[in-house]
Amino acid sequence: MINEKNIPSSQEETARQQSFIQLAKALTEQKMKTLGRPLTYCLTTFGCQMNEKQSEAVAGIMDEIGYVRQENEEADVVIYNTCTVRENANLKVYGRLGHLHSLKDKNPDMKIILFGCMMQEAHVVEKIKKTYSFVNLVFGTHNIFKFAELFYEMLLSDMQLIDIWEGTDQIVEDLPTERNYTFKSGVNIMFGCNNFCSYCIVPYVRGRERSRKPEAIIKEIKNLVADGVSEVMLLGQNVNSYGKTLETPVTFAQLLTMLEDIEGLRRIRFMTSHPKDLSDELIEVMAKSKKICHHLHLPLQSGSSRILKEMNRRYDKEKYLNLVENIRTAIPDISLTTDIIVGFPGETEEDFQETLDVVRQAGYDTAFTFIYSKRTGTPAAAKEDQVPEDVVKDRFNRLLTLVQEQGRIRSSRFEGTVQEVLVEEESKEKGIFTGRTQYNLLVHFPADESLLGTYVKVKLEECKGFYYLGSLSE
Ligand code: 5AD
Ligand code: SF4
Repeated sequence: MINEKNIPSSQEETARQQSFIQLAKALTEQKMKTLGRPLTYCLTTFGCQMNEKQSEAVAGIMDEIGYVRQENEEADVVIYNTCTVRENANLKVYGRLGHLHSLKDKNPDMKIILFGCMMQEAHVVEKIKKTYSFVNLVFGTHNIFKFAELFYEMLLSDMQLIDIWEGTDQIVEDLPTERNYTFKSGVNIMFGCNNFCSYCIVPYVRGRERSRKPEAIIKEIKNLVADGVSEVMLLGQNVNSYGKTLETPVTFAQLLTMLEDIEGLRRIRFMTSHPKDLSDELIEVMAKSKKICHHLHLPLQSGSSRILKEMNRRYDKEKYLNLVENIRTAIPDISLTTDIIVGFPGETEEDFQETLDVVRQAGYDTAFTFIYSKRTGTPAAAKEDQVPEDVVKDRFNRLLTLVQEQGRIRSSRFEGTVQEVLVEEESKEKGIFTGRTQYNLLVHFPADESLLGTYVKVKLEECKGFYYLGSLSE
């Protein structure tokens, strides 16, 4: 592993990568001529919205080079953007690599590329070298901006190419990118995480926290708006500590205030908020704002103060509930969602009861529930009192029942109201479209394609738990 610090400035690096795009494009054009057909790629993303965003960057470069994207893995290039937050994310990738091997037997020219969080783990790279030598290119999370260069090198080489960096303080701006939607987009405001929650591998694979400058974020969003985007999702592992590491520090609330002024931008979302860093200033800005959606994802992880301490979360049950109360006082219609882990080492039935208690009191619209997954290298993995599997499963099921029950009650509060909805896509049923309220609630209603990407008023007629059936309203 290398720790690359001495790479050129962002602008120089962007220009360098542009030149590799041109080189790869020339090779690709030649090859397409020889084959007499287009070259294709298939890109699959595992994990979170940060990964989705980084996949868009890789897709943008593949498009520029001249490859045509397809869903089917019988393609000339297959790319996986990997996740390692829980063990099952890794197992999925290994499982699918077996299948890719058989496809490659049929088409030896096929190229396989793996990148992202899982590749930052030394034991994974060792396994790929040993067991999956048919993989052509492996890189991590810190050098994604080098994709064009790595791809070009891969085209020229018969060897397995591996380029993993231990860290970087560089943020390269202005590379081409594809967008999954024309009217909404994720926007990275920071990378990495400094929190070291004791169960979590993210700080090890994503590196130290780095914030983008407000000017770069504003420029990107203005360009997106000029291109038809009206909703942005600001992305970071802990957006509430945005700006602390900048030369001229800026708070997240200040950044939001600057974004509020962007004309043509209608909705601002963000995730994820760490409860320990959520300031009164942010609550105030959210309450006043006309653009920030009244939805907050506020991971609880556990309701037990003892377990929270073991998790290194730096808040306790009381502080969390106080925060929820303050938010609800300032923004009464807020929709709260959360993440909860069940079966952290040493979790007792009493600890688990505390979690159920917070779920009852906080009133989440949705909660994402996870079974604790042991991640090699994290402090929690070394703990001896791992909870037996059957106990964890039983707790998980009880939590899920409560979360669903609460979610249904919370979500149904909008029944009969008319809400503004951004029309996002046609559902599986023809003529039925799916839109999202500012509260992140989905609603299905009859409409037509001309409304895609626009804001319409929809009457929420019937709550189906986590979504509504509705109809267009004047
Ligand atoms: N096991 C289970 N869940 C985890 N998460 C992070 N690390 C682990 C782990 N080791 C969950 C947390 C986090 C979400 C993105 O994933 O709840 O908020
Ligand atoms: Fe992981 Fe904690 Fe950082 Fe979230 S805040 S990415 S849970 S270490």
